[in-house]
Amino acid sequence: MSSVSRSDELVFFVNGRKVIEKNADPEVTLLTFLRQNLGLTGTKYACGRGGCGACTVMVSKCDPVSKKIRHFSVTACLVPICSLHGAAVTTVEGVGSTQTRLHPVQERIAKSHGTQCGFCTPGMVMSMYALLRNHPQPSEEQVMDALTGNLCRCTGYRPILESGKTFCMESNGCEQKGTGKCCLDRGENDSPSHGQQSDISTGLFTKDEFQPLDPTQELIFPPELLRIAESPETRTLTFYGERVTWIFPGTLKDLLELKVKHPEAPLILGNTSLGPAMKSQGHFYPIVLSPARISELSMVSKTSEGLTIGAGCSLAQVEAILAERVSELPEEKTQTYRALLKHLRSLVGQQIRNMASLGGHIISRHCYSDLNPVLAVGNATLNLISKEGARKIPLNADFLAGLAHAGLKPEEILESVYIPHSQKWEFVSAFRQAQCQQNALADVTAGMRVLLKEGTGTIEDLSIACGGIGLAPISAHKSCQQLRGRCWNELMLDEACRLLLDEVSIPGSAPGGKVEFKRTLVVSFLFKFYLEVLEKLKKLVKQSSAPDCLRYPEVSDGFLSALEDFPVTVPQGVQRYQSVDSRQPLQDPVGRPIMHLSGLKHATGEATFCDDIPKVNKELFMALVTSTRAHAKIKSIDSSKALELPGVVDVITAEDIPGTNGAEDDRLLAVDKVLCVGQIVCAVVAETKVQAKHAIEKIKITYEDLEPVIFTIEDALKHNSFLCPEKKLEQGNVEEAFEKVDQIVEGEVHVGGQEHFYMETQRVLVIPKTEDKELDIYVSTQDPTHVQKTVSSTLNIPVNRITCHVKRVGGGFGGKMGRPAIFGAIAAVGAIKTGHPIRLVLDREDDMLITGGRHPFFGKYKVGFMNDGRIKALDVECFINGGCTLDDSEQVAEFLLLKLENAYKIRNRRFRSRACMTNLPSNTAFRGFGFPQGGLLAESCITAVAAKCGLLPEKVREKNMYKTIDKTIYKQAFNPETLTRCWNECLDNSSFHSRRMQVEEFNKKNYWKKKGIAIIPMKFSVGYVETSFHQAAALVHIYTDGSVLVTHGGNELGQGIHTKMLQVASRELKIPLSYMHICETSTATVPNTISTGGSIGSDVNGRAVQNACQILVKRLEPIIKENPEGTWEDWIKAAFEQRISLSATGYFSRGYEAFMDWDKGEGDPFPYYVYGAACSEVEIDCLTGAHKKIRTDIVMDACCSLNPAIDIGQIEGAFIQGMGLYTTEELKYSPEGVLYSRGPDEYKIPSIMDVPEEFNVSLLSSSQNPLAIYSSKGVGESGLFLGSSVFFAITDAVTAARRERGLAEDFTVKSPATPEWVRMACADRFTEMIPRDNPKTFKPWSIQIA
Ligand SMILES: Cc1cc2nc3c(=O)[nH]c(=O)nc-3n(C[C@H](O)[C@H](O)[C@H](O)COP(=O)(O)OP(=O)(O)OC[C@H]3O[C@@H](n4cnc5c(N)ncnc54)[C@H](O)[C@@H]3O)c2cc1C
Ligand code: FES
Ligand code: FES
Repeated sequence: MSSVSRSDELVFFVNGRKVIEKNADPEVTLLTFLRQNLGLTGTKYACGRGGCGACTVMVSKCDPVSKKIRHFSVTACLVPICSLHGAAVTTVEGVGSTQTRLHPVQERIAKSHGTQCGFCTPGMVMSMYALLRNHPQPSEEQVMDALTGNLCRCTGYRPILESGKTFCMESNGCEQKGTGKCCLDRGENDSPSHGQQSDISTGLFTKDEFQPLDPTQELIFPPELLRIAESPETRTLTFYGERVTWIFPGTLKDLLELKVKHPEAPLILGNTSLGPAMKSQGHFYPIVLSPARISELSMVSKTSEGLTIGAGCSLAQVEAILAERVSELPEEKTQTYRALLKHLRSLVGQQIRNMASLGGHIISRHCYSDLNPVLAVGNATLNLISKEGARKIPLNADFLAGLAHAGLKPEEILESVYIPHSQKWEFVSAFRQAQCQQNALADVTAGMRVLLKEGTGTIEDLSIACGGIGLAPISAHKSCQQLRGRCWNELMLDEACRLLLDEVSIPGSAPGGKVEFKRTLVVSFLFKFYLEVLEKLKKLVKQSSAPDCLRYPEVSDGFLSALEDFPVTVPQGVQRYQSVDSRQPLQDPVGRPIMHLSGLKHATGEATFCDDIPKVNKELFMALVTSTRAHAKIKSIDSSKALELPGVVDVITAEDIPGTNGAEDDRLLAVDKVLCVGQIVCAVVAETKVQAKHAIEKIKITYEDLEPVIFTIEDALKHNSFLCPEKKLEQGNVEEAFEKVDQIVEGEVHVGGQEHFYMETQRVLVIPKTEDKELDIYVSTQDPTHVQKTVSSTLNIPVNRITCHVKRVGGGFGGKMGRPAIFGAIAAVGAIKTGHPIRLVLDREDDMLITGGRHPFFGKYKVGFMNDGRIKALDVECFINGGCTLDDSEQVAEFLLLKLENAYKIRNRRFRSRACMTNLPSNTAFRGFGFPQGGLLAESCITAVAAKCGLLPEKVREKNMYKTIDKTIYKQAFNPETLTRCWNECLDNSSFHSRRMQVEEFNKKNYWKKKGIAIIPMKFSVGYVETSFHQAAALVHIYTDGSVLVTHGGNELGQGIHTKMLQVASRELKIPLSYMHICETSTATVPNTISTGGSIGSDVNGRAVQNACQILVKRLEPIIKENPEGTWEDWIKAAFEQRISLSATGYFSRGYEAFMDWDKGEGDPFPYYVYGAACSEVEIDCLTGAHKKIRTDIVMDACCSLNPAIDIGQIEGAFIQGMGLYTTEELKYSPEGVLYSRGPDEYKIPSIMDVPEEFNVSLLSSSQNPLAIYSSKGVGESGLFLGSSVFFAITDAVTAARRERGLAEDFTVKSPATPEWVRMACADRFTEMIPRDNPKTFKPWSIQIA
């Protein structure tokens, strides 16, 4: 069928320019087209599945029915270019640029400090831009809603939202906010007499300098497209690709004829279901039919009985239609519409709602579908049409189950959906629970409807449908039938739960796991429905003059708390920091909240990341082949079929490595055996990414499984499988102390792993040069020197031939310390073997599969204490799951011990730790480096002691914190003064004590909702336990025009190091920032660098930059003395003429002497500590396990912050990342060691909806740190642990629930505190009634590796 010459022309507009594609390939997405064909690399690839929003662009189309122009955001990675015929696309480049005119959205996101690494920023800009095109003065809720589909791993969202709010009409709460006069600006003990210190600022940016939004300046919809839309062409268009043909009929008649001709061809609308299935599940359709021009599919009709919505309407349009109907009709008629709206508002981000169609949603029949269960119980009817005519089928259980007789015939299509009005005495509700409140696939989703006999409580009709628990949504038809005629009371409820659990049975091994949770949710939802109906009845009976005999069970006040869902609230907050001294020269930027110097370029898409480098001559693409076995011998690798494919150039195996193939037990490319699923075995090099990806499917590797196969820490302990010897620290006499205490408690703590989820996946471009074996490597890394050295040893060429360049990194968090060297080295082997430049860009799935992350942790503790809460003895044994190779595991195990004590002085203690070797991908460095796990154990000991003593945890914390100058467990002197200040200030700022009382009051009154509050202190050690790591170099050139080029050894990961370095240079050279520039980090300019991490990047590199600048200033001094009135330019000119070198190398080497003697258990491992405290308050729903974050207050000691905006950004971002670790981020492995969670759908990092409703951050004032540059501190990592305050607030709420239910309060601590954990911990009659499986009778879907 395919013949390229017969293709119609695809016409669409991008940024006002017409694009004509003569041979449009239906398999090409808009994202690929923008980036590769048009060179518009502002639109980023981060997941390829519609789940992250990095690729957001705006599409404008003329609606076929209303003829109005619709502007809407979409995720370009799911938009096939063929779907854009007649559409206009606006990308971030079309919105504005630093070269021409910045758009206010771009300006404000940058100046509000809403960008760090900047990788998510273009997507954020586009989501906000699309919103403003439709609503130039949106509400704060609309801003938040527009951003739900955009993930950011760096900022913690607060500043992004803040920038969006500047477009809103309403003021954000209080006119005085940020002035120091608003109540939000003050703590419990602040009074006018205390006042706000005049040197404390609360504004990080000035709104006054923002350009106003002028909608008349926007790109207009192309008149040519408008003309086409007014008199649409009805001819069928066809686009032939290499493998796929896209047919685009202009009329319904043609579509129906085509459906007869191609019954197997899917209808493609939003492509949000087909697209991901084709990408990840290998679905392939040679012909697709696009009904986008068929106006019949977009029709909406209202009757007095119900509403008919065209199948082609997007979910966003459905939402608007339903909202309109709800506003027009009495409540009793809109029960189903309200239930649908509830789901539509939370099920997925704005972009997907704009793209996904109602028809596609219904026909896909996803098991997790949120709408189908509600439509089913609401008696919706599907209006089908084919060439033969029209017919109707019910959207019922048989349809949902996919039974042939109940579904569409191959030649039929869904034209529209009829949803009848509800009636009086009929009640419809929708329920869903997911890993997080919004934008996550539901674990269980349900629709429930009951029709009561008029004026009675007798069930006339009942329907319940649930999704998320089987292969398709399940209807509880039998149970509902049996309940007809029953009264709506407790007895009926009990019977209904029993019947429902029987009918909606979930096998122990069900895909998706969480079986007991799901069973519990089913009955918990039913209970909520039961109460909801009772409440509605109460109102109804009151309203209608019901006879006195009508009596429904009363819902007690405490039980009413089961009813409300957590509302979406727009976060507010204040950021406080110490202003610079008023005497500081204006030119001197140190200490001021300077915008990230790449901020504007991030916002315009001009900031170049590794994969944005244009294709170089003769470039080839590499794709990796990974092991599918956890522990096996490689018997053979057969590449022959792959090599036969068009475009495939070579297959790279271990045999091709000229030098060293990694270490003996940590190979770059597997030799003879594999140690985990995801280990790299070989790589394919092809002309294009698509060809390379197809080819890896054809490589046949045969394996012979080996024993043992170890995944869990428990199994590793059984097999004595460790990566390194045990490390131990001991102080006092532990055994003796245990004998003298009042009580002893023992417990366990489990902390799951964490995926870095940097938005920019691992990427590298290796360009071999023609001379002297030189190689240029452009790589996204925190450690270019490590890449350089690894490539050198792999290729067996000297280090001096290899230059690594790092312009910027789209997030690292430790994941780009060691790993990039592996990818760089493999790509370099490919480059040397083929002689071509090689580009390697990991897909999100591969990145998550291969690279490992934070170490899962298991700890056992035994703690001895007095009845007043004073801890006298602590014995801790910790294990981390290191995966299959050593990597950084030994250091992580060491750091864990060194940091474990956190803020507590316990006189007799013994800490032991060990890294387990398992058959999982090797785990590696991650922000916090062991502390987030160890710290959680320390705090869990405190809560366990508090529970046993009947004391509040904060009291036990206070009792055991360091109070005077003392020695740490490794005998380093330590003064807790600043720690105590942070703690006290946090107590005060958060009004902790009064809120603790309010929480208790709330809990007394509410049975099904509980609040929890926790305050956590933090002592975080900065730096590496290695003196040689505390060195850095910088190179500063002054050019003859006076401009300055700074280079240093740190890498820009989003943490703003380059901005800070230029602030340093600006202060030292006494010239404004506008003179300064940093181009990149390169091994050719600053050699032998240390990886950027450990929170000390700015400390050490800052000193090096300072040193270089001071050398230059010294050289310039005589010239300045000679001409003190001269300008900078005059002095530089004079210096050049006098042959004074204007280039200097700065070096920082002395200062931090770090060491640790593990044999003696003592040392001086850390240069200094960062202190902090955080207080969080949450509310949990005991029936679903959901929680909302009510408020967080953080106090952090950043001393004299080099840049408070950047430091607050680091603290907030780290806090939100920590919150993710402790609440939602859950890695799931199969019993065979395969990682299931390989994308944003399955792995939930926090979204904008997860930001605490009130989020206040204060930098401690008047604090000094003589060790670091300008008395600053490195705060890159520390904030992460403070996320545990949310975890402990959740456990506090769970404890309250358990106490009320008479359950033990010292439960096993398991992080993350997911809804599953919370729900099952809040045990009640519903958790009691669910069936429990004998673990020996089934194979679970997933295993616990911690
Ligand atoms: C990131 C992401 C998150 C999501 N989260 C959720 C969620 O939380 N809850 C939820 O319920 N869903 C969720 N979804 C699924 C989403 O709702 C569906 O993918 C979407 O509704 C499908 O619509 P579509 O137009 O994109 O379908 P397409 O992918 O275009 O088509 C899907 C199927 O429907 C068929 N089809 C489409 N229209 C017709 C018609 N008129 N007649 C006959 N057949 C037709 C096609 O042949 C095809 O087989 C999510 C999707 C993504 C990408
Ligand atoms: S890359 Fe498109 S949504 Fe993530
Ligand atoms: S700034 Fe958002 S991902 Fe880095």
